[in-house]
Amino acid sequence: MDFDVEEKKPELKLSPLQKERLEFRPTIPESLQHLENLDFVETTPITCELPLRQMFTHSLRAKALALSRTEQPAKPVKVGVVLSGGQAAGGHNVISGLYDALQELHPNSRLIGFLNGPGGIVRNRHIDITKELLANFRNQGGFDIIGSGRTKIDTQEQFRAAMNAVKENELDGLVVVGGDDSNTNAAFLSEYFAMYGCTATVVGVPKTIDGDLQNEAIEISFGFDSACKTYSELIGNICRDCLSAKKYYYFVKLMGRSASHITLECALQCQPNLAFIGEEIQAKNLKLSDVVAQIVDLVRERARNGHNYGVILVAEGIVEFMPDFKVLIRALNALLAHGSNDLKALERIFDPQEKINYILQRLAQDVQQTYKQLPREIQLQLLIDRDPHGNVQVSKIESERLLLLLAEAELKRLDPSIKFATQPIFCGYEGRSCIPSNFDATYCYALGRLSALLVARKRTGYIVSMGKLSGPVEYWEPRVTPLISMMTLEEREGKPKAVIKKALVDLKGPAFTTFSQNRAAWRIIDQYCQPGPIQYFGPREITDATTLSLQLNRGA
Ligand code: FBP
Repeated sequence: MDFDVEEKKPELKLSPLQKERLEFRPTIPESLQHLENLDFVETTPITCELPLRQMFTHSLRAKALALSRTEQPAKPVKVGVVLSGGQAAGGHNVISGLYDALQELHPNSRLIGFLNGPGGIVRNRHIDITKELLANFRNQGGFDIIGSGRTKIDTQEQFRAAMNAVKENELDGLVVVGGDDSNTNAAFLSEYFAMYGCTATVVGVPKTIDGDLQNEAIEISFGFDSACKTYSELIGNICRDCLSAKKYYYFVKLMGRSASHITLECALQCQPNLAFIGEEIQAKNLKLSDVVAQIVDLVRERARNGHNYGVILVAEGIVEFMPDFKVLIRALNALLAHGSNDLKALERIFDPQEKINYILQRLAQDVQQTYKQLPREIQLQLLIDRDPHGNVQVSKIESERLLLLLAEAELKRLDPSIKFATQPIFCGYEGRSCIPSNFDATYCYALGRLSALLVARKRTGYIVSMGKLSGPVEYWEPRVTPLISMMTLEEREGKPKAVIKKALVDLKGPAFTTFSQNRAAWRIIDQYCQPGPIQYFGPREITDATTLSLQLNRGA
């Protein structure tokens, strides 16, 4: 629901830590310190796939950019900012960095925030971002200063409405803070504006806790660091509880709808007995029964060593990587598509078992087998929890319960004497709006500054990021990359679509290699590690440390 432009924000009571964080001043990398003396020079032409060249004829006139020095003072600008998609710690600091930098570049510059995501641009709902408003949001978690949303600017009407909003507000630039989809939208908006002679620039900022917006130019999206640290704290505590009580198997599902970067990082941090990485399951073509067999093997082996407890991590998107489950989801999506006869018939059946039987009759034999082996509650979940298009909501499938129940049944069959008490846990939303780590607070502030500079210097169609992130902040390197240079064509709903590719876990990369070389040692002899809570005060090696994934994959 929209909050009204005039609506008063709730008066939140700030904790002593929150108050202390309001005073935190992020270190500014040396290269971004005197913005007034900075501009960009064009370097090499932009390259992209042939069909994309036809879609982005205006954007292709731009070039790759490098920072340069200038004596030319910046003019006042008016900028709009929007937060898009799931929350990620640091969003408020992107806005703080943007605001402060705009003021530094010219004190008459203004910033407005579109409300509740891209839908706020289309509906032209916004508030002024002022120093007073920001005073309560600096270095704080959440996106509540202006809210976020998942509306996609997709249709011609939406593009036109967005351009009208930009024109009505006399904006010089629009800063889109989002993941792969939102930045794909930013690229299309930039092209659309250029095509219709709208001079406002569009700048993207890489956000998502999932860490799947990363590539050669973007070392990591913001929010990943804080989310992984929050989850690692919780998992480390669970490991310690497990070791103390010695009575449960904890099945911990971790957010990351498509990619398993979060699970990989938490595994590296906490050293659980087992961790399932979706990308590996896909590469090895492991079916649901293969994954369950791995759990059963672990439990039996540990039982032989007198350990009837353990910690198992499961990536949220895991089922979509299993070949048999993928086929089942596709079949259910086709059967129960919005408005289909089978969906209507299913809605008229009230008895749960009858619902299941109805679907079973309509599935091909091999798919039937996959569906049949599922616990009843998951069978029903697949029929009931569906998105507005009628698709299975993969992120809502309780895969931690699914694996636990199937392993329980299999153990009962093979070795009923084994004690197997379980606890399912979902680490999700608590990692998205936590108070940002020093890394995310500082990274986001720098991203905001760089976005301001791009708008002030009238550059459109770029995404901002920083390089050398695993080194000291002082030497982080600003990067601005043409959005279209990150795009590729993918088939979506049977049609080719220009998108920014999601970065999945690289099974040959240093982070995964380190995990796969060490995990055998963590199976039976417990080597749990307890990272503890995010630290804001104390030695810099602790407060400013980045994730192990970043250090391994991008370190010097
Ligand atoms: P973004 O891709 O928008 O950053 O969101 C990622 C995420 O946190 C996933 O990890 C999770 O599956 C999803 O959002 C949950 O979304 P919702 O808020 O719609 O339940």
